[in-house]
Amino acid sequence: MSQNETPLFTGLMEHAKKNPVQFHIPGHKKGTGIDPEFREFIGDNALSIDLINISPLDDLHQPKGMIMKAQRLAAEAFGADHTFFSVQGTSGAIMTMVMAVCGPGDKIIVPRNVHKSVMSAIVFSGATPVFIHPEVDPKLGISHGITTESVSKALQQNPDAKGVLVINPTYFGVAADLKKIVEIAHTYQVPVLVDEAHGVHIHFHDELPISAMQAGADMAATSVHKLGGSLTQSSILNVREGLVNVSRVQTILSMLTTTSTSYILLASLDAARRRLATEGRELIDQTIRLANSIREQINEIDHLYCVGKEILGTKATFDYDPTKLIISVKDLGITGFDAEKWLREVYNIEVELSDLYNILCLITPGDTTKEANILVTALRELSKQFSHLSGRVHIEVMLPDIPLLALSPREAFYSETEVVPFEESVGRVSAEFIMVYPPGIPIFIPGEIITEDNLKYIKKNIEVGLPVQGPEDFELKTLRVIKEHKAIR
Ligand SMILES: Cc1ncc(COP(=O)(O)O)c(C=O)c1O
Repeated sequence: MSQNETPLFTGLMEHAKKNPVQFHIPGHKKGTGIDPEFREFIGDNALSIDLINISPLDDLHQPKGMIMKAQRLAAEAFGADHTFFSVQGTSGAIMTMVMAVCGPGDKIIVPRNVHKSVMSAIVFSGATPVFIHPEVDPKLGISHGITTESVSKALQQNPDAKGVLVINPTYFGVAADLKKIVEIAHTYQVPVLVDEAHGVHIHFHDELPISAMQAGADMAATSVHKLGGSLTQSSILNVREGLVNVSRVQTILSMLTTTSTSYILLASLDAARRRLATEGRELIDQTIRLANSIREQINEIDHLYCVGKEILGTKATFDYDPTKLIISVKDLGITGFDAEKWLREVYNIEVELSDLYNILCLITPGDTTKEANILVTALRELSKQFSHLSGRVHIEVMLPDIPLLALSPREAFYSETEVVPFEESVGRVSAEFIMVYPPGIPIFIPGEIITEDNLKYIKKNIEVGLPVQGPEDFELKTLRVIKEHKAIR
């Protein structure tokens, strides 16, 4: 088959064209039974392919027809031995990777700044995390990836680990020396699992960091929906044969997946793969050029700094993705969240994320010079509006230390717990996840000892309006901790 073909998308359209009389779910029956306003808005085409796994359309849980063909084309495009489609986002693909290599008590080497889906999989599988400290950028206040040295050290101390998980590239587009990390792990016969949520496009352009499959990694969970043009929630799991059991990967992915798989999402993966494989290089080339021109213009604006290739050269900053615009607003005397809010209210601009010190804007093939000019104009105005604060407000970068793990995350999650006031939780063991989303990196995971510094960091994020998520008590007046049993008098 050729990369110009879309067996799944085309098969679906042909099925819909036959206009079969449907006595199966979804009960809206091609949209005729749906709320009329919604139908009008979504359109009949979309509703006609909102189908499920009836036999002519194959079955994601046991693909033998058009889904199998679409997955094979994707494997070829991404340089994998096997590609599995996920309608459970990259979170589902990540959980599959971890659970495919780890069982109860098995060790997995992971950077501490992983997405919550990794931690969820660690709780589900009962694996024990061996944490690696990510390199922290003290100027920007963000975490990068892990170094080859830290992976070597972790494997020397834990040669029995069942996997090494790497985030590559990070949310901010920074890549580690993945090829070297893979080489090191493979000398121990340990598979490398890559969280490639932010790197679907990197495989298709040689000026971008190398992809997980190019680096020889064993599995990669890749968000096609984030930067590859498929619909939200659709992702892929790429697998290389050798150190992982491919049938087990399929079984676990199936265990974690709905039986009512959305064909709109699946078809969008097929179409996105075609575009990436056939036009990706050219589209990404234009995107890189557009992003670089925006970067240059931002760096001419007073008090703003847009990160470029000067970020490279540390042990964890091996390569970077220039289509991500990390814009530091710290020197303007405002927080990233202040900038996000101002851009929304004054210019109707929505950024990808903000944190205490930065905003992140993503440039994709969906952008043109029109959007670029709006962003640059808005940032010039932002700088003018707040320049009176620059130099007067000193913003100190604060990233708290990683808390110590007292219990395995699973043990903590299933322990007897109690609720205590937020301020009184110092020294107790957390029973919940707490994170700022996005990026969704936990500040505490179940089993970690709560420290004063981390509580301060949470408070600071709440104060400036950033979305702290995870705890049962949304207002964070209380925290759930492991119950302590005092001696009976
Ligand atoms: C680093 C990282 N990994 C995994 C995910 C999960 O991806 P998804 O939202 O497709 O489940 C995200 C989402 O933001 C992420 O930032």
